[in-house]
Amino acid sequence: MSDDITTVIDPVPESRRSDSTRLRRDQAGYVPAPSTSDYPAASLPAVPALPAEPLASLQANAITAWFGDHQVLDRVSLTMPAGQVTALIGPSGCGKSTFLRILNRMHELVPSASLAGEVLLDGVDIYDASRKLTEARRDIGMVFQKPNPFPAMSIYDNVIAGLKLTGVRASRDEKDYLVERSLTSAGLWKEVKDRLRAPGGGLSGGQQQRLCIARSLAIKPKVLLMDEPCSALDPTSTRVIEETMGELQKEVTIVIVTHNMQQAQRVSQQCAFFLASQGQPGHIVEHGDTEAMFGAPIDPRTYDYVNGRFG
Ligand SMILES: Nc1ncnc2c1ncn2[C@@H]1O[C@H](COP(=O)(O)OP(=O)(O)OP(=O)(O)O)[C@@H](O)[C@H]1O
Ligand SMILES: [Mg+2]
Repeated sequence: MSDDITTVIDPVPESRRSDSTRLRRDQAGYVPAPSTSDYPAASLPAVPALPAEPLASLQANAITAWFGDHQVLDRVSLTMPAGQVTALIGPSGCGKSTFLRILNRMHELVPSASLAGEVLLDGVDIYDASRKLTEARRDIGMVFQKPNPFPAMSIYDNVIAGLKLTGVRASRDEKDYLVERSLTSAGLWKEVKDRLRAPGGGLSGGQQQRLCIARSLAIKPKVLLMDEPCSALDPTSTRVIEETMGELQKEVTIVIVTHNMQQAQRVSQQCAFFLASQGQPGHIVEHGDTEAMFGAPIDPRTYDYVNGRFG
């Protein structure tokens, strides 16, 4: 994938372009949507949600993790297929968040943390010495449990905040397009299109979480990691985010940690059950199709967990 912002957001497909948009194609082939300031919001054309790039798979091989001498994961291997939602479930403290943070190199931010194993993004190890840390963070975005927009920053600037961090430069038109495209994908555009200059902190919790999803999408990740993204939200906002995920998986591979078994069943196609027996590091007991994991699990511990018998 190119670093160029022009590939960050997919252009409007040729067949759906009007003459005026075709004329706006710049040298790099990027087709920006009209600036939001060019038209009244109601007349903005619909932004198509089509994948720009082939979907990517993520594969963890024999991941072992430590905080100091404390081993918290033991040889965890898991394939997270392209274009699918993989749910990570398991009791508190079994290493789900640690595993998720290893998938985009955030684990190494903790001074005492270390790990063994490999994480392959479409077959390429994100921990390879030749790969930059920023590449992994750009390709593999993360949404946290608590929505964390920059509260005083405008909705518009929140969405594009990641561009600077990843060293991407964009024109005003490109940014306008990116903001609309990312907010549309995150299911928030219609609610905020008339107040893009209002502070992000003024949105509801559910809207803030979708703003954070839009911010992650703006740098066009191949994978989106979500660590209990709905646990701080009310049921309505949760439902909106779940519906958004259904649309998003057409563009990005998703890995979600959730304690909500109904949510895991609703949103995921693949599921992995993590467990840490007393004093032991976390490992995967069972993984596979979500339907099978919930309907006919092989391991009795999975059966007990998905049926709410422990944890
Ligand atoms: N920064 C840290 N420093 C030291 N130990 C840590 C750190 N973060 C997590 N741990 C330990 O690693 C183990 C796994 O924690 P982790 O947060 O990955 O679990 P989890 O499955 O996400 O739990 P929860 O469901 O409660 O979020 C725990 O024993 C925890 O205490
Ligand atoms: Mg956690």
